[in-house]
Amino acid sequence: MVEFSMVRTIERTRRGEPLGAEAVRALVAGITQGTIPDYQTAAWLMAVLWRGLTPDDLTTLTIAMARSGATLDLSSIGHPIADKHSTGGVGDKATLVVAPIVAACGVPVAKMSGRGLGHTGGTVDKLESIPGFNPELTVATFTDVLRRCDLVIAGQSADLAPADGILYALRDVTGTVPSIPLIASSIMAKKLAIGADAILLDVKVGRGAFMETMADATALAETMVRIGTDAGKRTAAVISDMDRPLGRAVGNALEVIEAVETLRGGGPDDLRSLALHEAALLLVMTGKAVDEAAGARMAERAIASGAAFERFAAVVGAQGGDRRALEETARLPHAPIVQSVPAPESGFIAEIEPLAIGRAAMRLGAGRARKGDTIDPAVGIVLRATVGERVERGAPLFDIHARDATQAATVRADALAGYRFSAEPAIVPPLIKTTIPASIC
Ligand code: URA
Repeated sequence: MVEFSMVRTIERTRRGEPLGAEAVRALVAGITQGTIPDYQTAAWLMAVLWRGLTPDDLTTLTIAMARSGATLDLSSIGHPIADKHSTGGVGDKATLVVAPIVAACGVPVAKMSGRGLGHTGGTVDKLESIPGFNPELTVATFTDVLRRCDLVIAGQSADLAPADGILYALRDVTGTVPSIPLIASSIMAKKLAIGADAILLDVKVGRGAFMETMADATALAETMVRIGTDAGKRTAAVISDMDRPLGRAVGNALEVIEAVETLRGGGPDDLRSLALHEAALLLVMTGKAVDEAAGARMAERAIASGAAFERFAAVVGAQGGDRRALEETARLPHAPIVQSVPAPESGFIAEIEPLAIGRAAMRLGAGRARKGDTIDPAVGIVLRATVGERVERGAPLFDIHARDATQAATVRADALAGYRFSAEPAIVPPLIKTTIPASIC
């Protein structure tokens, strides 16, 4: 056994050489235990940013990060367990729709989710808008809710993959966040620690997403799928459009309402079609459906029969939430002011810049500018017309749900600046760009 040297590890990474499993495990142990100083870890992160890691080293790194803290043992549940992750986008409430559909089809779904930061909201923040809902579960309660409801959606436990917490904090202050291998290992370490058998990743691409280009989104999706597969998990990724908000509602309680509408057979077309596609893939990955078409039919039946909505209401109740708020959404937090903004011109909506809407919602209080900021569950923006649709001048374009009129006025112009109109019908880009591996479809 060669003694571990951090200097040698940095040098090898800088030269693009393989590190070997032993060195990678020693590196993660040293980072977790605090025996490697931050300046050396920071230098190593910068070397990874420039040179990457070999596929084997990256998988070893991710598994070691996953094992750096508590891992869940879900083996007592007895069926293949599904997990779904989105890299985050404006109005992305798809998890609230996909997870109950899949659970209603008999596949348990175990989901731990981080809180939102910036213009993208977190699933847990949305759920917390339901009065009484508790996302902070002990491991025992997490497993118990999963066993009773075939579904659990909790906040990320603090002791999940602590090596990732240390690395992320250093990446944040050393300009090393935008590295595909580091992002992939960070996301996948937390997925592997939860221990689901089938992991579906929704990698958003576009101006409202972490990955702005198709090349970057594809590289991230392929890297995560390879790590998951090498770690023995059935893993797939959907790359979906984030050049416009998903659905019409942006803001926590507003998004819960839209998710409930979709679970009850209504909701916007784009959210419904993405949710059906993702649910169908998870049903194929867990062996419930023979192919995507069969999975989509099962998912549609789960919506039409009311089973998917019932599953969502059951998990909300099991986690302390007021399930009556899902039947009577007037029980959810409501903003005191709803200001309708009219279309400034007639024409087809060619573009709704997702960042303009996401940032406006964040400034209303729907998102966090900084970690630890408090969220206002009631506020946000609801699009009354979306990309591809025709509007007449003066017709409602979007509604601002705000605490007061002054607050509404401060975001109105910025949100409006995100719209582009055209005289001709606009070409709406496909919502689902591709699925990796293609053989899953
Ligand atoms: N989300 C994560 O969990 N980690 C990253 O590095 C980026 C996004």
